[in-house]
Amino acid sequence: MKEITRISPDELARQQIYIDQIAEENAEYFARTGRRRLAYTHTYGCQQNVSDGERIDGMLAQMGYGRAESVEEADFILYNTCAVREGAEDRVYGNAGALKHLKNRNKELILAIAGCMVQQKSVADKLYKSFPYIDLVMGTHVLHRFPELLFRVMKEKQRVYELPESEGVVAEGLPVLRSDSIHAWLPIMNGCDNFCSYCIVPHVRGRERSRRPGDILREASDIVAAGYKEITLLGQNVNSYGKNLEGAPGFPDLLRSICGLEGDFRVRFMTSHPKDATPELFKAMAESPKAARHLHLPVQAGSDQILKAMNRKYTAEAYLEKIHQVRELMPDIALTSDIIVGFPGETEEDFEKTLELVKTVGFDSLFMFIYSKRKGTPAERMDDPIPAEEKSRWFSRLVALQDEIMEAKHRAAVGRTVRVLVDGTDPKTGRLTGKDSGVLRVRIEEAPESLMGQFAQVKLTSASRHWVDGVLV
Ligand code: 5AD
Ligand code: SF4
Repeated sequence: MKEITRISPDELARQQIYIDQIAEENAEYFARTGRRRLAYTHTYGCQQNVSDGERIDGMLAQMGYGRAESVEEADFILYNTCAVREGAEDRVYGNAGALKHLKNRNKELILAIAGCMVQQKSVADKLYKSFPYIDLVMGTHVLHRFPELLFRVMKEKQRVYELPESEGVVAEGLPVLRSDSIHAWLPIMNGCDNFCSYCIVPHVRGRERSRRPGDILREASDIVAAGYKEITLLGQNVNSYGKNLEGAPGFPDLLRSICGLEGDFRVRFMTSHPKDATPELFKAMAESPKAARHLHLPVQAGSDQILKAMNRKYTAEAYLEKIHQVRELMPDIALTSDIIVGFPGETEEDFEKTLELVKTVGFDSLFMFIYSKRKGTPAERMDDPIPAEEKSRWFSRLVALQDEIMEAKHRAAVGRTVRVLVDGTDPKTGRLTGKDSGVLRVRIEEAPESLMGQFAQVKLTSASRHWVDGVLV
Protein backbone atom coordinates (compact mmCIF):
# COMPACT_ATOMS: atom_id res chain seq x y z
CA MET A 1 0.00 0.00 0.00
CA LYS A 2 1.41 3.36 -1.04
CA GLU A 3 1.96 5.86 1.76
CA ILE A 4 0.00 9.09 1.53
CA THR A 5 1.90 12.23 2.49
CA ARG A 6 -0.03 13.82 5.32
CA ILE A 7 0.96 17.30 6.44
CA SER A 8 2.11 17.08 10.04
CA PRO A 9 0.65 19.17 12.86
CA ASP A 10 4.16 20.65 13.27
CA GLU A 11 4.10 21.95 9.73
CA LEU A 12 0.65 23.45 10.26
CA ALA A 13 1.86 25.05 13.49
CA ARG A 14 4.74 26.55 11.49
CA GLN A 15 2.24 28.01 9.02
CA GLN A 16 0.20 29.39 11.93
CA ILE A 17 3.19 31.49 12.91
CA TYR A 18 3.11 33.15 9.48
CA ILE A 19 -0.64 33.68 9.79
CA ASP A 20 -0.09 35.41 13.13
CA GLN A 21 2.74 37.55 11.76
CA ILE A 22 0.64 38.70 8.81
CA ALA A 23 -2.27 39.37 11.17
CA GLU A 24 0.04 41.55 13.27
CA GLU A 25 1.24 43.43 10.22
CA ASN A 26 -2.38 43.95 9.09
CA ALA A 27 -3.37 45.16 12.58
CA GLU A 28 -0.51 47.69 12.49
CA TYR A 29 -1.74 48.87 9.10
CA PHE A 30 -5.20 49.36 10.59
CA ALA A 31 -3.82 51.28 13.57
CA ARG A 32 -1.81 53.50 11.22
CA THR A 33 -4.47 54.20 8.58
CA GLY A 34 -7.83 53.50 10.21
CA ARG A 35 -8.60 51.23 7.28
CA ARG A 36 -8.76 47.45 7.33
CA ARG A 37 -6.92 45.60 4.56
CA LEU A 38 -9.26 43.75 2.21
CA ALA A 39 -8.82 40.58 0.17
CA TYR A 40 -10.63 39.70 -3.04
CA THR A 41 -10.66 36.05 -4.07
CA HIS A 42 -12.38 34.40 -6.99
CA THR A 43 -12.58 30.69 -7.71
CA TYR A 44 -13.18 29.13 -11.12
CA GLY A 45 -14.07 25.54 -11.93
CA CYS A 46 -15.44 22.65 -9.97
CA GLN A 47 -16.66 22.32 -6.37
CA GLN A 48 -13.35 20.77 -5.38
CA ASN A 49 -11.74 24.03 -6.33
CA VAL A 50 -14.45 26.01 -4.55
CA SER A 51 -13.61 24.00 -1.46
CA ASP A 52 -9.90 24.86 -1.82
CA GLY A 53 -10.93 28.50 -2.21
CA GLU A 54 -12.86 28.31 1.08
CA ARG A 55 -9.68 27.17 2.80
CA ILE A 56 -7.72 30.04 1.28
CA ASP A 57 -10.46 32.41 2.49
CA GLY A 58 -10.26 30.81 5.93
CA MET A 59 -6.54 31.52 6.13
CA LEU A 60 -7.04 35.09 4.88
CA ALA A 61 -9.68 35.70 7.55
CA GLN A 62 -7.25 34.52 10.24
CA MET A 63 -4.66 36.89 8.78
CA GLY A 64 -7.06 39.73 9.53
CA TYR A 65 -8.15 40.52 5.99
CA GLY A 66 -11.70 41.72 5.43
CA ARG A 67 -13.54 40.67 2.27
CA ALA A 68 -13.37 43.01 -0.72
CA GLU A 69 -16.47 43.15 -2.90
CA SER A 70 -14.47 44.20 -5.97
CA VAL A 71 -10.87 44.12 -7.17
CA GLU A 72 -10.75 47.94 -7.07
CA GLU A 73 -10.96 48.10 -3.28
CA ALA A 74 -8.68 45.12 -2.59
CA ASP A 75 -5.19 45.04 -1.07
CA PHE A 76 -4.81 41.40 -2.00
CA ILE A 77 -6.30 39.69 -5.05
CA LEU A 78 -6.24 35.95 -5.70
CA TYR A 79 -7.63 33.96 -8.62
CA ASN A 80 -8.06 30.27 -7.85
CA THR A 81 -8.00 28.84 -11.34
CA CYS A 82 -9.32 25.84 -13.30
CA ALA A 83 -7.59 24.05 -16.16
CA VAL A 84 -10.26 21.64 -17.31
CA ARG A 85 -11.08 23.54 -20.51
CA GLU A 86 -9.39 26.28 -22.48
CA GLY A 87 -12.23 28.74 -21.91
CA ALA A 88 -11.63 28.78 -18.15
CA GLU A 89 -7.95 29.56 -18.73
CA ASP A 90 -8.63 32.34 -21.24
CA ARG A 91 -10.83 34.14 -18.72
CA VAL A 92 -8.00 34.09 -16.18
CA TYR A 93 -5.51 35.53 -18.70
CA GLY A 94 -8.03 38.26 -19.46
CA ASN A 95 -8.64 39.06 -15.79
CA ALA A 96 -4.94 38.92 -14.91
CA GLY A 97 -4.20 41.36 -17.76
CA ALA A 98 -6.81 43.75 -16.44
CA LEU A 99 -5.09 43.85 -13.04
CA LYS A 100 -2.02 45.62 -14.42
CA HIS A 101 -3.52 49.10 -14.13
CA LEU A 102 -4.51 48.42 -10.50
CA LYS A 103 -0.94 47.48 -9.70
CA ASN A 104 0.32 50.63 -11.44
CA ARG A 105 -2.00 52.68 -9.25
CA ASN A 106 -1.14 50.88 -6.03
CA LYS A 107 2.35 49.39 -5.71
CA GLU A 108 1.41 47.75 -2.39
CA LEU A 109 -1.28 45.63 -4.01
CA ILE A 110 -0.45 41.90 -3.95
CA LEU A 111 -1.62 39.74 -6.84
CA ALA A 112 -1.77 35.95 -6.63
CA ILE A 113 -2.83 33.08 -8.86
CA ALA A 114 -3.47 29.61 -7.48
CA GLY A 115 -5.15 26.40 -8.56
CA CYS A 116 -5.09 23.84 -11.33
CA MET A 117 -4.17 26.11 -14.21
CA VAL A 118 -0.81 27.17 -12.80
CA GLN A 119 0.11 23.60 -11.91
CA GLN A 120 0.86 23.17 -15.64
CA LYS A 121 4.45 24.16 -16.27
CA SER A 122 3.77 25.84 -19.62
CA VAL A 123 1.14 28.07 -18.03
CA ALA A 124 3.33 29.00 -15.07
CA ASP A 125 6.15 29.90 -17.48
CA LYS A 126 3.83 32.05 -19.55
CA LEU A 127 2.57 33.87 -16.44
CA TYR A 128 6.12 34.46 -15.25
CA LYS A 129 7.19 35.98 -18.56
CA SER A 130 4.06 37.83 -19.65
CA PHE A 131 2.66 38.99 -16.29
CA PRO A 132 5.64 40.34 -14.32
CA TYR A 133 3.33 42.18 -11.91
CA ILE A 134 1.83 38.93 -10.54
CA ASP A 135 3.52 38.44 -7.16
CA LEU A 136 2.52 34.96 -6.08
CA VAL A 137 1.85 31.84 -8.10
CA MET A 138 0.95 28.81 -6.04
CA GLY A 139 0.24 25.29 -7.30
CA THR A 140 -2.37 22.86 -6.03
CA HIS A 141 0.02 20.92 -3.79
CA VAL A 142 1.11 23.81 -1.56
CA LEU A 143 -2.23 25.24 -0.48
CA HIS A 144 -1.35 24.61 3.17
CA ARG A 145 1.81 26.72 2.73
CA PHE A 146 -0.10 29.78 1.52
CA PRO A 147 0.64 31.77 4.73
CA GLU A 148 4.38 31.23 4.37
CA LEU A 149 4.37 32.11 0.67
CA LEU A 150 2.32 35.27 1.18
CA PHE A 151 4.60 36.28 4.05
CA ARG A 152 7.60 35.94 1.75
CA VAL A 153 5.99 38.20 -0.85
CA MET A 154 5.24 40.79 1.84
CA LYS A 155 8.67 40.71 3.46
CA GLU A 156 11.05 39.99 0.64
CA LYS A 157 9.14 42.10 -1.87
CA GLN A 158 9.87 39.66 -4.64
CA ARG A 159 7.89 37.29 -6.79
CA VAL A 160 7.24 33.87 -5.32
CA TYR A 161 6.47 30.99 -7.69
CA GLU A 162 5.90 27.77 -5.78
CA LEU A 163 4.86 24.92 -8.04
CA PRO A 164 6.43 21.70 -6.84
CA GLU A 165 5.75 18.53 -8.77
CA SER A 166 4.12 16.18 -6.32
CA GLU A 167 1.91 13.15 -6.05
CA GLY A 168 -0.18 15.32 -3.74
CA VAL A 169 -0.63 15.63 0.01
CA VAL A 170 -3.46 15.55 2.54
CA ALA A 171 -3.59 18.57 4.86
CA GLU A 172 -6.00 18.47 7.81
CA GLY A 173 -6.92 21.31 10.11
CA LEU A 174 -6.80 24.25 7.69
CA PRO A 175 -9.31 26.95 8.62
CA VAL A 176 -12.38 27.14 6.36
CA LEU A 177 -14.47 30.18 5.56
CA ARG A 178 -17.50 28.65 3.84
CA SER A 179 -18.96 30.62 0.98
CA ASP A 180 -22.55 29.67 1.74
CA SER A 181 -24.60 29.21 4.91
CA ILE A 182 -27.01 26.53 3.63
CA HIS A 183 -24.87 24.17 1.51
CA ALA A 184 -21.44 22.99 2.62
CA TRP A 185 -18.75 21.32 0.50
CA LEU A 186 -16.90 18.50 2.18
CA PRO A 187 -13.90 17.05 0.34
CA ILE A 188 -13.39 13.39 1.21
CA MET A 189 -10.49 12.82 -1.16
CA ASN A 190 -8.35 14.57 -3.68
CA GLY A 191 -6.59 13.76 -6.92
CA CYS A 192 -7.46 11.24 -9.59
CA ASP A 193 -5.94 8.01 -10.92
CA ASN A 194 -8.24 7.40 -13.85
CA PHE A 195 -6.37 9.19 -16.62
CA CYS A 196 -9.25 9.67 -19.03
CA SER A 197 -7.44 10.58 -22.20
CA TYR A 198 -8.92 14.10 -22.51
CA CYS A 199 -8.53 15.15 -18.88
CA ILE A 200 -5.97 17.39 -17.24
CA VAL A 201 -7.09 16.68 -13.67
CA PRO A 202 -4.76 13.74 -12.88
CA HIS A 203 -1.89 15.88 -14.16
CA VAL A 204 -2.62 18.88 -11.94
CA ARG A 205 -4.20 17.39 -8.82
CA GLY A 206 -1.94 14.42 -8.26
CA ARG A 207 -2.73 10.86 -7.27
CA GLU A 208 -5.92 9.77 -5.61
CA ARG A 209 -5.73 10.11 -1.82
CA SER A 210 -8.43 9.80 0.80
CA ARG A 211 -8.91 11.72 4.00
CA ARG A 212 -9.27 9.62 7.13
CA PRO A 213 -12.88 8.70 7.96
CA GLY A 214 -12.54 10.21 11.47
CA ASP A 215 -11.44 13.56 10.02
CA ILE A 216 -14.31 13.54 7.54
CA LEU A 217 -16.92 12.65 10.17
CA ARG A 218 -15.61 15.34 12.49
CA GLU A 219 -15.92 17.95 9.75
CA ALA A 220 -19.40 16.65 8.83
CA SER A 221 -20.53 16.95 12.49
CA ASP A 222 -19.19 20.49 12.66
CA ILE A 223 -21.06 21.37 9.47
CA VAL A 224 -24.34 19.97 10.81
CA ALA A 225 -23.81 21.66 14.19
CA ALA A 226 -23.29 24.96 12.38
CA GLY A 227 -26.79 24.61 10.93
CA TYR A 228 -26.05 23.62 7.34
CA LYS A 229 -28.88 21.75 5.66
CA GLU A 230 -26.98 20.14 2.83
CA ILE A 231 -23.54 18.56 2.63
CA THR A 232 -21.97 17.64 -0.68
CA LEU A 233 -19.17 15.10 -0.41
CA LEU A 234 -16.49 15.84 -2.98
CA GLY A 235 -13.94 13.77 -4.82
CA GLN A 236 -12.94 13.28 -8.45
CA ASN A 237 -14.16 9.70 -8.08
CA VAL A 238 -15.84 9.21 -4.72
CA ASN A 239 -16.47 5.53 -5.44
CA SER A 240 -12.84 4.73 -4.99
CA TYR A 241 -12.77 6.36 -1.55
CA GLY A 242 -10.67 4.42 0.93
CA LYS A 243 -8.35 2.77 -1.57
CA ASN A 244 -4.78 3.21 -0.36
CA LEU A 245 -6.02 3.87 3.16
CA GLU A 246 -5.69 0.95 5.51
CA GLY A 247 -8.78 0.15 7.58
CA ALA A 248 -10.90 2.76 5.81
CA PRO A 249 -14.49 1.93 4.91
CA GLY A 250 -15.55 1.97 1.28
CA PHE A 251 -17.63 4.86 0.02
CA PRO A 252 -21.03 3.20 0.62
CA ASP A 253 -20.20 2.75 4.32
CA LEU A 254 -18.79 6.26 4.62
CA LEU A 255 -22.01 7.58 3.12
CA ARG A 256 -24.01 5.54 5.61
CA SER A 257 -22.01 6.93 8.55
CA ILE A 258 -22.44 10.52 7.46
CA CYS A 259 -26.16 10.02 6.85
CA GLY A 260 -26.29 8.46 10.32
CA LEU A 261 -25.35 11.72 12.06
CA GLU A 262 -28.13 13.36 14.09
CA GLY A 263 -29.95 16.28 12.52
CA ASP A 264 -32.15 17.37 9.65
CA PHE A 265 -29.91 17.63 6.61
CA ARG A 266 -29.34 16.14 3.18
CA VAL A 267 -26.21 14.52 1.76
CA ARG A 268 -25.15 14.70 -1.87
CA PHE A 269 -21.93 13.54 -3.43
CA MET A 270 -19.97 13.95 -6.62
CA THR A 271 -18.44 12.69 -8.80
CA SER A 272 -19.02 9.00 -9.41
CA HIS A 273 -17.18 7.19 -12.18
CA PRO A 274 -19.58 4.72 -13.79
CA LYS A 275 -16.97 1.97 -13.80
CA ASP A 276 -16.82 2.08 -9.99
CA ALA A 277 -20.47 2.81 -9.15
CA THR A 278 -21.70 -0.42 -7.58
CA PRO A 279 -25.03 -1.89 -6.45
CA GLU A 280 -23.67 -1.52 -2.86
CA LEU A 281 -23.56 2.24 -3.39
CA PHE A 282 -27.10 2.32 -4.77
CA LYS A 283 -28.24 0.23 -1.82
CA ALA A 284 -26.57 2.55 0.69
CA MET A 285 -28.34 5.50 -0.95
CA ALA A 286 -31.70 3.76 -1.01
CA GLU A 287 -31.40 2.82 2.68
CA SER A 288 -30.38 6.30 3.84
CA PRO A 289 -33.30 8.74 3.93
CA LYS A 290 -30.80 11.61 4.26
CA ALA A 291 -29.04 10.71 1.02
CA ALA A 292 -30.37 12.98 -1.70
CA ARG A 293 -32.23 11.21 -4.48
CA HIS A 294 -29.66 12.33 -7.00
CA LEU A 295 -26.84 10.56 -8.77
CA HIS A 296 -24.37 12.40 -10.99
CA LEU A 297 -22.91 9.77 -13.27
CA PRO A 298 -20.89 11.28 -16.13
CA VAL A 299 -21.19 9.17 -19.26
CA GLN A 300 -19.15 11.48 -21.57
CA ALA A 301 -20.19 9.72 -24.80
CA GLY A 302 -22.60 7.16 -26.20
CA SER A 303 -20.30 5.42 -28.67
CA ASP A 304 -18.21 2.49 -27.46
CA GLN A 305 -15.41 3.42 -29.81
CA ILE A 306 -15.20 6.92 -28.37
CA LEU A 307 -15.54 5.64 -24.80
CA LYS A 308 -12.59 3.37 -25.50
CA ALA A 309 -10.52 6.20 -26.95
CA MET A 310 -11.43 8.25 -23.87
CA ASN A 311 -10.14 5.41 -21.66
CA ARG A 312 -13.41 5.30 -19.75
CA LYS A 313 -13.39 1.52 -19.21
CA TYR A 314 -17.12 0.88 -19.75
CA THR A 315 -19.45 0.49 -22.71
CA ALA A 316 -22.70 2.31 -23.35
CA GLU A 317 -24.51 -0.92 -22.56
CA ALA A 318 -22.75 -1.30 -19.21
CA TYR A 319 -23.64 2.30 -18.41
CA LEU A 320 -27.30 1.72 -19.21
CA GLU A 321 -27.24 -1.37 -17.02
CA LYS A 322 -26.08 0.78 -14.05
CA ILE A 323 -28.88 3.24 -14.73
CA HIS A 324 -31.31 0.34 -14.76
CA GLN A 325 -30.00 -0.94 -11.40
CA VAL A 326 -30.27 2.50 -9.77
CA ARG A 327 -33.77 3.10 -11.01
CA GLU A 328 -34.92 -0.30 -9.87
CA LEU A 329 -33.90 0.56 -6.30
CA MET A 330 -34.94 4.23 -6.43
CA PRO A 331 -37.51 4.86 -9.15
CA ASP A 332 -37.72 8.56 -8.25
CA ILE A 333 -33.98 9.23 -8.48
CA ALA A 334 -32.73 12.26 -10.41
CA LEU A 335 -29.93 11.37 -12.81
CA THR A 336 -27.45 13.86 -14.19
CA SER A 337 -24.42 13.49 -16.38
CA ASP A 338 -21.53 15.17 -18.24
CA ILE A 339 -21.06 14.86 -21.98
CA ILE A 340 -18.19 15.86 -24.22
CA VAL A 341 -19.08 16.64 -27.82
CA GLY A 342 -16.46 16.43 -30.58
CA PHE A 343 -13.80 14.22 -29.00
CA PRO A 344 -10.92 13.62 -31.48
CA GLY A 345 -12.03 11.08 -34.06
CA GLU A 346 -15.71 11.31 -33.19
CA THR A 347 -17.89 10.89 -36.27
CA GLU A 348 -21.44 11.99 -36.82
CA GLU A 349 -22.43 8.36 -36.35
CA ASP A 350 -20.69 8.28 -32.95
CA PHE A 351 -22.40 11.51 -32.00
CA GLU A 352 -25.81 10.08 -32.94
CA LYS A 353 -25.13 7.33 -30.41
CA THR A 354 -24.67 9.97 -27.72
CA LEU A 355 -28.03 11.50 -28.68
CA GLU A 356 -29.56 8.03 -28.57
CA LEU A 357 -28.20 7.34 -25.09
CA VAL A 358 -29.36 10.73 -23.80
CA LYS A 359 -32.83 9.99 -25.16
CA THR A 360 -32.86 6.50 -23.64
CA VAL A 361 -31.85 7.65 -20.14
CA GLY A 362 -33.73 10.95 -20.03
CA PHE A 363 -31.37 12.83 -17.70
CA ASP A 364 -32.84 15.31 -15.25
CA SER A 365 -30.02 17.69 -16.06
CA LEU A 366 -26.96 17.54 -18.27
CA PHE A 367 -23.63 19.34 -18.34
CA MET A 368 -22.50 19.54 -21.95
CA PHE A 369 -19.06 20.55 -23.18
CA ILE A 370 -17.32 20.84 -26.52
CA TYR A 371 -14.01 18.96 -26.39
CA SER A 372 -11.10 21.20 -25.45
CA LYS A 373 -7.56 20.07 -26.20
CA ARG A 374 -5.38 19.94 -23.06
CA LYS A 375 -1.58 19.95 -23.17
CA GLY A 376 0.09 16.78 -22.00
CA THR A 377 -3.00 14.56 -22.23
CA PRO A 378 -3.06 11.54 -24.59
CA ALA A 379 -5.96 13.02 -26.60
CA GLU A 380 -3.78 16.00 -27.51
CA ARG A 381 -1.99 13.80 -30.01
CA MET A 382 -5.08 12.19 -31.53
CA ASP A 383 -6.31 13.11 -35.01
CA ASP A 384 -9.11 15.64 -34.77
CA PRO A 385 -10.41 16.28 -38.27
CA ILE A 386 -13.92 17.56 -37.50
CA PRO A 387 -14.11 21.37 -37.92
CA ALA A 388 -15.19 23.49 -34.96
CA GLU A 389 -18.38 24.65 -36.73
CA GLU A 390 -19.50 21.07 -37.15
CA LYS A 391 -18.89 20.35 -33.47
CA SER A 392 -20.91 23.46 -32.59
CA ARG A 393 -23.80 22.17 -34.69
CA TRP A 394 -23.68 18.81 -32.88
CA PHE A 395 -23.53 20.62 -29.57
CA SER A 396 -26.65 22.66 -30.41
CA ARG A 397 -28.52 19.49 -31.35
CA LEU A 398 -27.65 17.94 -28.00
CA VAL A 399 -28.69 21.09 -26.11
CA ALA A 400 -32.00 21.18 -27.98
CA LEU A 401 -32.67 17.53 -27.19
CA GLN A 402 -31.89 18.01 -23.51
CA ASP A 403 -34.13 21.12 -23.38
CA GLU A 404 -37.00 19.03 -24.68
CA ILE A 405 -36.33 16.30 -22.11
CA MET A 406 -36.13 18.83 -19.26
CA GLU A 407 -39.37 20.47 -20.27
CA ALA A 408 -41.14 17.11 -20.35
CA LYS A 409 -39.66 16.21 -16.93
CA HIS A 410 -40.78 19.52 -15.47
CA ARG A 411 -44.31 19.12 -16.82
CA ALA A 412 -44.50 15.56 -15.51
CA ALA A 413 -43.58 16.80 -12.04
CA VAL A 414 -46.65 19.06 -11.78
CA GLY A 415 -49.08 17.76 -9.16
CA ARG A 416 -46.34 16.16 -7.07
CA THR A 417 -45.48 17.35 -3.55
CA VAL A 418 -41.73 17.63 -2.89
CA ARG A 419 -39.52 18.58 0.01
CA VAL A 420 -37.60 21.69 -1.03
CA LEU A 421 -34.56 23.21 0.61
CA VAL A 422 -35.16 26.95 0.23
CA ASP A 423 -31.89 28.60 -0.74
CA GLY A 424 -32.46 31.53 -3.10
CA THR A 425 -34.63 34.21 -4.61
CA ASP A 426 -35.66 34.46 -8.24
CA PRO A 427 -34.55 37.92 -9.37
CA LYS A 428 -37.40 38.20 -11.89
CA THR A 429 -40.37 37.36 -9.69
CA GLY A 430 -38.87 37.93 -6.24
CA ARG A 431 -40.13 34.48 -5.22
CA LEU A 432 -38.13 32.23 -2.93
CA THR A 433 -36.55 29.30 -4.73
CA GLY A 434 -35.13 25.97 -3.74
CA LYS A 435 -34.23 22.48 -4.82
CA ASP A 436 -35.92 19.18 -4.15
CA SER A 437 -34.00 16.06 -3.14
CA GLY A 438 -33.14 15.60 -6.81
CA VAL A 439 -32.22 18.52 -9.06
CA LEU A 440 -35.61 20.14 -9.58
CA ARG A 441 -35.44 23.92 -9.12
CA VAL A 442 -38.69 25.20 -7.69
CA ARG A 443 -40.11 28.72 -7.33
CA ILE A 444 -42.46 29.00 -4.38
CA GLU A 445 -45.44 31.32 -4.43
CA GLU A 446 -45.97 33.55 -1.40
CA ALA A 447 -43.39 31.93 0.82
CA PRO A 448 -42.28 33.97 3.85
CA GLU A 449 -38.63 35.11 3.95
CA SER A 450 -38.24 33.14 7.21
CA LEU A 451 -38.21 29.93 5.14
CA MET A 452 -34.79 30.79 3.71
CA GLY A 453 -32.40 28.00 4.65
CA GLN A 454 -35.25 25.70 5.74
CA PHE A 455 -36.97 22.68 4.26
CA ALA A 456 -40.53 23.17 3.02
CA GLN A 457 -43.20 20.88 1.55
CA VAL A 458 -44.19 22.31 -1.81
CA LYS A 459 -46.93 21.21 -4.18
CA LEU A 460 -45.89 21.72 -7.79
CA THR A 461 -48.50 23.63 -9.76
CA SER A 462 -47.03 24.60 -13.13
CA ALA A 463 -43.86 24.18 -15.16
CA SER A 464 -41.84 25.57 -18.03
CA ARG A 465 -38.53 24.59 -19.63
CA HIS A 466 -36.43 26.27 -16.94
CA TRP A 467 -38.68 26.41 -13.91
CA VAL A 468 -41.22 24.57 -11.85
CA ASP A 469 -43.61 26.64 -9.72
CA GLY A 470 -45.32 25.50 -6.58
CA VAL A 471 -47.21 26.48 -3.44
CA LEU A 472 -46.53 25.67 0.20
CA VAL A 473 -48.61 22.87 1.68
N1 5AD B 1 -12.72 19.06 -22.86
C1 5AD B 1 -14.04 19.19 -22.63
N2 5AD B 1 -14.63 18.81 -21.50
C2 5AD B 1 -13.87 18.24 -20.55
N3 5AD B 1 -14.18 17.74 -19.34
C3 5AD B 1 -13.03 17.30 -18.77
N4 5AD B 1 -11.99 17.48 -19.59
C4 5AD B 1 -12.49 18.06 -20.72
C5 5AD B 1 -11.91 18.49 -21.94
N5 5AD B 1 -10.61 18.35 -22.19
C6 5AD B 1 -15.53 17.68 -18.82
C7 5AD B 1 -15.94 16.25 -18.55
C8 5AD B 1 -15.91 16.18 -17.05
C9 5AD B 1 -16.31 17.57 -16.68
C10 5AD B 1 -15.97 17.96 -15.30
O1 5AD B 1 -15.60 18.36 -17.60
O2 5AD B 1 -17.25 16.05 -19.04
O3 5AD B 1 -16.78 15.20 -16.53
FE1 SF4 C 1 -11.72 21.17 -10.75
FE2 SF4 C 1 -10.53 19.86 -12.66
FE3 SF4 C 1 -11.01 22.41 -12.96
FE4 SF4 C 1 -9.15 21.57 -11.26
S1 SF4 C 1 -9.12 21.30 -13.47
S2 SF4 C 1 -10.72 23.14 -10.89
S3 SF4 C 1 -10.04 19.69 -10.51
S4 SF4 C 1 -12.53 20.83 -12.83
